[in-house]
Amino acid sequence: MRSIEQIENIKGKTVLLRVDFNVPIKNGEVEDDFRIRASLPTINFLLEKGAKILLITHLGKGLSASGGMVADLEPVIKRFWEISKLEKDKIEFFDNIRKFPEEEKNDLEFAKKLSKMGDVYVNDAFSVSHREHASVVTLPKLLPSYAGFQLEKEVKNLSRAFHKPEHPFLFILGGAKFSTKIPLIQKYLELADEVFIGGALANDFLKAKGYEVGKSLVDDTNYDIKKVLENKKLILPVDVVVKSGDKFINKKVNEVGKDEIILDIGNETVKNLALLVEKSKFILWNGPLGKYEAGGAKSTKEVLKSVLNSNTQTIIGGGDLVSVFSSLDPRTYKLEPNVFVSTGGGATLDFLANGTLPGIKALG
Ligand code: 3PG
Repeated sequence: MRSIEQIENIKGKTVLLRVDFNVPIKNGEVEDDFRIRASLPTINFLLEKGAKILLITHLGKGLSASGGMVADLEPVIKRFWEISKLEKDKIEFFDNIRKFPEEEKNDLEFAKKLSKMGDVYVNDAFSVSHREHASVVTLPKLLPSYAGFQLEKEVKNLSRAFHKPEHPFLFILGGAKFSTKIPLIQKYLELADEVFIGGALANDFLKAKGYEVGKSLVDDTNYDIKKVLENKKLILPVDVVVKSGDKFINKKVNEVGKDEIILDIGNETVKNLALLVEKSKFILWNGPLGKYEAGGAKSTKEVLKSVLNSNTQTIIGGGDLVSVFSSLDPRTYKLEPNVFVSTGGGATLDFLANGTLPGIKALG
């Protein structure tokens, strides 16, 4: 990847800057502007060099997935001007790129049309770089192309997980979608010293061990996880918080009833995990430990606090975990140089599993 610092003679030229301002919107307002802020250093750098910028982002799902309604960029544009405080004459926004079905079809003619709108392409959208879309993988082949600072930062930091990480190395994996995460689990059972499984993923493991998981969320794919279960590095919850009627009860994993729903990992498990955090030198954490949107955010918050207070080298990733992190008032914690918060969801998982992404390869 060539860095934007290597761009020559950019003064007066137009940069097509692919960003990912796909941020949560509620009642017409941006709820979390983390991804917008993340690209400001690249934008400021390009402006200082005298470039003009055409910002290209998607927001929400495309036409086919959203039933024909593609989100309006207005709230994003409004927030962008509020936080960037830049002069408006050098920056323009392209329409929500997913308004055009050709984007997701990775259409060459569409990419060619886009390429005529600028002189240089910059990718600062790590979190969409796992998508083989026109503005991510084809456009960079049609113009001189560079990586923005945020993309570089993601690659540099996430690569620490598979390039000589410090030990003891603790990998914490939560969230759902067991079948998509199994390659990641297998990879980090080799690279890490301990792999803790929480969230809905843990339900799959507990079920495979023969425990009752009641009405908890499980993945239906019949994947044989016996081998993984035998691995001594694997750590599962010893207790959980269940929703039983209207009540939330802490129970041992062998006490879950047929009508109960597991919402979170339990108190004893949180304590054990905090001890593991304390003795670790490197932590990679993706996905929340409980069903945070249904009252199961407590353990994730507690363990996050232990991690943030520990001074351990840490990488946090995944949209849901980052939302819980944002709810903690992250500005009260000193993040750099030890803690890196990834902007990616699926992209982070793919990068951690494969060591690269289609949008990164396209810059090479
Ligand atoms: C994300 O939110 O992870 C990125 O913006 C990619 O969005 P997508 O999953 O709709 O491609």
